Amino acid sequence: MAFASKQVLINSTENAIQTFDRTAKILRRIMYLSIVLIVVLICEANSACTVNGINYICSNIATRSDFPLVLPRHIQKVTLMGTHGLDEAFPNGLFSHKTWANVSELSILKFTNIDIIEKGFLHGLEELKVISISACTDLRVIDQDIFYSTPNIEELHLDGNTRLNLSRVEAALIDKLSNLRYLSLTGIQAMERHLVLGDNFVKALHAKNLSCLDISGNNVIIVENAVVQDVLPNLKYLNLSHSQIIAPGGMDNMAKSLFKNIELLDLTGVQYIILQYLSQEDHTFKVAEFPNAMYLFLRGMVDQTAKVMYNIKSRFETCDIKFPKMFDLSKNSLTHLNITFIGDCRPRELETVNLESNNMEYISPNFLSIFPSLKILDLSNNLLMKMQDVEEFSDIFIQNKDLEIVFLRNNRLTFVPSNLFLSNSKLLIIDLSENELAYFNINLRSAVNLKLINLRRNRLKSLSASMMEQFDSLLWKQNNESNLRTPVINTLLNEFHDKSLIGKRYRYGYNASGDIQFEESHSIIPLYVTTDILENRFVCDCDTLVFMEWILFTNIDIINKTVLSCTHGNNEMFLNNELIQMVQTNCRLASSIGIGVASAIAIIISILTLAITIRQRRKSKRHNQDLENLKKEIFQDNIHFKFLIFLSYCSRDAQIVEENILPSLKSYLRETFSTSRDIVCTGESDFVPGMRIIDEIHRCINKSLVVVTVITPAFLQSRWSQAECVAAVDRHRQVVILMKKHTDTSSAIVTIQNLIGQYTRGTWSDNEGVFVIRPSWNIICEGIIRAASEELRKYRRHNLIKSAEDVPLVEETV
Ligand SMILES: *[C@@H]1O[C@H](CO)[C@@H](O)[C@H](O)[C@H]1NC(C)=O
Ligand SMILES: *[C@@H]1O[C@H](CO)[C@@H](O)[C@H](O)[C@H]1NC(C)=O
Ligand SMILES: *[C@@H]1O[C@H](CO)[C@@H](O)[C@H](O)[C@H]1NC(C)=O
Ligand SMILES: *[C@@H]1O[C@H](CO)[C@@H](O)[C@H](O)[C@H]1NC(C)=O
Ligand SMILES: *[C@@H]1O[C@H](CO)[C@@H](O)[C@H](O)[C@H]1NC(C)=O
Ligand SMILES: *[C@@H]1O[C@H](CO)[C@@H](O)[C@H](O)[C@H]1NC(C)=O
Repeated sequence: MAFASKQVLINSTENAIQTFDRTAKILRRIMYLSIVLIVVLICEANSACTVNGINYICSNIATRSDFPLVLPRHIQKVTLMGTHGLDEAFPNGLFSHKTWANVSELSILKFTNIDIIEKGFLHGLEELKVISISACTDLRVIDQDIFYSTPNIEELHLDGNTRLNLSRVEAALIDKLSNLRYLSLTGIQAMERHLVLGDNFVKALHAKNLSCLDISGNNVIIVENAVVQDVLPNLKYLNLSHSQIIAPGGMDNMAKSLFKNIELLDLTGVQYIILQYLSQEDHTFKVAEFPNAMYLFLRGMVDQTAKVMYNIKSRFETCDIKFPKMFDLSKNSLTHLNITFIGDCRPRELETVNLESNNMEYISPNFLSIFPSLKILDLSNNLLMKMQDVEEFSDIFIQNKDLEIVFLRNNRLTFVPSNLFLSNSKLLIIDLSENELAYFNINLRSAVNLKLINLRRNRLKSLSASMMEQFDSLLWKQNNESNLRTPVINTLLNEFHDKSLIGKRYRYGYNASGDIQFEESHSIIPLYVTTDILENRFVCDCDTLVFMEWILFTNIDIINKTVLSCTHGNNEMFLNNELIQMVQTNCRLASSIGIGVASAIAIIISILTLAITIRQRRKSKRHNQDLENLKKEIFQDNIHFKFLIFLSYCSRDAQIVEENILPSLKSYLRETFSTSRDIVCTGESDFVPGMRIIDEIHRCINKSLVVVTVITPAFLQSRWSQAECVAAVDRHRQVVILMKKHTDTSSAIVTIQNLIGQYTRGTWSDNEGVFVIRPSWNIICEGIIRAASEELRKYRRHNLIKSAEDVPLVEETV
């Protein structure tokens, strides 16, 4: 509308110019130009108003005519944003049209040239509940009767008015706004040395029911006794962050009543109070002084150069200490948090603890263990590598069964105990980024809900086979379930990152569902299993081929997979298909050279045969011992290995296997082990119908000591046969190969090629029903028994040192 009226202005001026004396052309040009200039200037600073539901927002208000005098229908919230253009005072009668009568919230922002607001300014806004006059950096004076006509105001913001004098605000509040609940005065009167909250402040708030006070961002606040006694005890919300507080003496004695109603206290960056309330001298942990606290932000309250050490032992039987829901103790130089609670109290309130950036070297497991409901824990930017080798470290989260998100970023960890998260089945996010891990192998058996593991910026050269297997199995497990998002934890995490979301709850008409919304694309917790392994020190060579293939072919979501790089030779290269093929070719070349060497070695070995036959006796004694051990293992009750062999073959070869291989194997084993029980496991006879094939493969291999593969052209093509080989390698099982003569293996997957290159094998042929195998069944079976014995020894060794490396995936017994 404002724009249209300017058009009219141009036209009429031009008409006027037409009527000038034609000889005064120069004058006319100058006038015309200057008018155009003015119009251009006006247009540039033109205000724009937009409607959004019940909201009406006008920006760039520079002149009186830019104000919307009449509102569209149904508008309840209006924002007017100014410029430097408007001078001195607001025009009167801005809100007198009846369309303003229903407005409940009004924001007047950024009128940086206004220095006074006069008495009648808010006239016409009878329904006003919330008023904000903020960021008016020249505003010095508000009239003491400004709120005369707006008795219903519940929430008043006068933030960032750097010249506004507190005494003017106090004067305007006395005996008015009896419904005032929320007062926000951040960053006012910055020109003064300090702000005094004293008798006048108490008078201004007299007979009101003020429960929320935000007076953050003021240089120095001197709080006098009257305020401590009359104002603070009524507050539910107090934000003093980034101010320096000078409080009266003797506050210690009032500690119990001082914050008796407080729900949210934000003392971020306040350097005074922590000394009083978290002091070690009196040996009590004084969170107790906040009996109703839900959110305590005590961040950055201690000088960064200090070192705060707690060695506190506290009785905690009656739950007399009340904990908040969210506790932020970050940036407090808490280097040593050795707090031990003795007693049975397990407070369930605490859900979020932030201990980041404390240079923390020690945190006692007992301290965390008494909070069974802990969901989010931030231990980033500390020095926990100082306790990584202490036995206690692996128990640190052992009692936090509800833990969902744990940040351990930047702790210089070189080692993570494998069972660190063994009792945390609800884990969604593990952040171990920016540490110094060169090797990473943790047990994720319990973490069935894990959605994101962040290993970015470590020193990993590759991932261990067990890690890759665990990631994959996580994926299978989760695909079975519906991937339900967890809105509760998403909300918590969101609030954790942006505390003002919690602060807003204390505001008028706060609508949580409107405030925190999750779109698929902005989700914080990913829907599928995701890893971030960027910026490590991956190496691409023959030893890491399996890892390289995993990266390319796994279904795990790897963040920015396409820019993942590794060192190959001396070059940093993208880890892609081309690179894999290059490495594969190189490695094949290398292994055929290896075969040449191997045959040379074979000659030497045959020269030594004599020596070997001399030792034959001792060996056969050992052979018998091995057999005894195997028998014990396989026929015992509650055994781990139920089968000696998992026989892997392609179903298309079933006839040959069932007619020629299986009977010979079984009869040999029956004789050797003098048993009638079947100790050969096959898919045909031992997979449980109705289960996922891949799970069954893993289960059976897990229960067998040795994997025997019958390699044929059909086998090499079969997806399941390939999966069986991969599973065998991942589980570090020894593999005995029975290969059909003349099978071309050049197109086999790398895992199988590696197997063929690695293990000696038996070869068989089946010409017109005549089955021939070399070497003899006796020798093959002896080889199998030796491999099985080796496996058994390895297993027992592992079990002795309780390594979690080879965790059984599927726990059910057969
Ligand atoms: C103000 O609200 C009342 C009741 O909700 C309604 O009847 C009236 O029409 C509204 N006035 C304007 C100007 O929107
Ligand atoms: C003060 O406000 C609280 C809610 O913030 C309310 O529960 C209480 O009844 C009010 N007291 C008075 C005297 O209005
Ligand atoms: C923790 O404090 C206890 C005393 O409460 C002490 O015995 C123990 O040595 C301390 N542990 C560490 C690691 O400082
Ligand atoms: C307290 O005030 C600061 C500065 O004004 C703000 O950043 C912070 O979000 C506020 N705290 C809460 C809990 O809203
Ligand atoms: C809260 O916000 C949501 C989404 O913006 C909206 O659908 C709902 O009606 C709002 N509720 C109230 C009480 O205003
Ligand atoms: C992925 O890479 C792109 C481009 O290099 C970058 O803009 C983006 O931030 C990266 N995403 C993550 C999650 O690192």
